Order: sequence, then C-alpha cells, then structure tokens
Amino acid sequence: MNEIRTFSSPEALAGAAAAHVVAVAREAVRARGRFSVALSGGSTPRRLYRLLAGQPFASQVEWAGVHVFWSDERCVPLNHPESNYRLAEYTLLRHVPIPTVNIHPIDTALEPEQAALDYEGKLRQFFAGQHPDRGLQTATADFDLVLLGLGEDGHTASLFAEAHQATHKTERWVIAHYVDRLSSWRITLTPAAINAARYVTFLVSGANKARILQRVLRGPSQPEILPAQIINPTGGQLLWLADADAAQLL
Ligand code: 6PG
Repeated sequence: MNEIRTFSSPEALAGAAAAHVVAVAREAVRARGRFSVALSGGSTPRRLYRLLAGQPFASQVEWAGVHVFWSDERCVPLNHPESNYRLAEYTLLRHVPIPTVNIHPIDTALEPEQAALDYEGKLRQFFAGQHPDRGLQTATADFDLVLLGLGEDGHTASLFAEAHQATHKTERWVIAHYVDRLSSWRITLTPAAINAARYVTFLVSGANKARILQRVLRGPSQPEILPAQIINPTGGQLLWLADADAAQLL
C-alpha cells in the first residue's frame, strides 16, 4: 500500500525525511544492533544528507551502528562529480562519526558487470551474517531502509524502462546495464533487492515531477515503461515523501 505524505516546501520535505531516517535508524539499532541503508543519488537527496550531517539530527543517530550502501551508481570514479558516492561523502559522510568500514561504495573501478557481481557478493555476505542458518544464495537483502528518487521518465535507482526485461524478474540483487539515453553504464539494485527492505522511501521534489508522480501513483499499472511501479516491498513499508510542487496533481 502506497503511503503518501506531502510537505509545503523542499525544506519541509527534507526535514521530514531526516526525521524518518533517524527514526528508522534508531529502531534498527535498538532491535538488531545495526542500521543498513541504501542511499539514492541524483540531486533531490542533497538537502536531506546535509540535514542529517547537522544538528539536531546527527547527534540522534548512533553512527557506529550505521552501514551505508547505495541504491545505484554511475560507472565513474568515486571522486567524479557524477558519482552518487561522492554526493553522500561530501554532504554527509565526512561530517559524521561513521566508521569507514561501514561505508560500502560500489567499486566502479571494476568493469560494470564485475562491479555488479562484486557488490552483490558483498551484500550477500553482509545480510547472510544476520541469518547464520541461511547460505549466501538464500540470504535476503534485508535493508532497513532503501531511499529512492523518481526520474521524470518514471525510472528509479537506475532501473530504466529499456532494461525492463533484465531487471523486473531477476533474482539478482545488483545488475549493470547500459542506458542508451544516457550513453552510460549504470549499476543498480534490482526490484528483488529493493522490495525485500523493511522501509522503501521515495523522495520527490519539484513541479517537474508532478506529472510523472501522478502517472506512477494514480495512472494505470505500466511497470514496463514506469519502473518505479515495480517497487512494492514484499513485507515492508512503501512511503512516498513529496513536496507540494511535486504532489500538485495528486
Ligand atoms: C541517480 C538516481 C536516480 C535519481 C532520479 C531523480 O543515480 O540519478 O539514483 O534514480 O534518484 O533520477 O533524480 P533527481 O533527484 O536529480 O531529480
């Protein structure tokens, strides 16, 4: 079930998102001793990450128990302006006392398919540890939180319509695919990984997202052209956080 919360401005949206991240993090650390989050890229989460790096939010998080992953990544060096890792590192991670070993970037120095396999192996190791009775292949991607954005074409993470065949049915957790319209390779969590999370939260901001948000949430089910519609957590909570501009057609 889609829960949608709207906020008066991008600043109010970011503040609510920060409070949500802190609440999920505190619940996870209290219940399981750690909080695993997959961060989204793009520009929308920038304000959120900056808020989490400052007060009051930063001191409310037990950073020693936080493990940071990425929902997707561009196949560029981690210090490249396009890197999703770089976005989070500059706006959040360098400002909080999170142990370096708890920061798990996608290794974009590898060839794209190798990077995807490498990241999936790291994820399986990380999550299999939570259930010693399960093997690496029977582990589930039990992220506490996956943060996502929404592209104007209906993509999310780096799940683009042109890769629908490769992404929507696979049991893989991480795949690489070449995005023709961007003329670039992307690495992304798959729906199988995202939908296993306890919380999946979309952040959508700006009038330019109003039409696509209406199509994704109120229009017919067309996951083959609107990948964001494939996101439907198996047992977790799906939450849409949007500002008034983005939600104006709902
Ligand atoms: C990426 C993101 C992507 C993003 C959307 C929205 O790597 O670009 O993961 O899915 O969330 O494209 O991007 P904006 O926040 O910049 O609108």
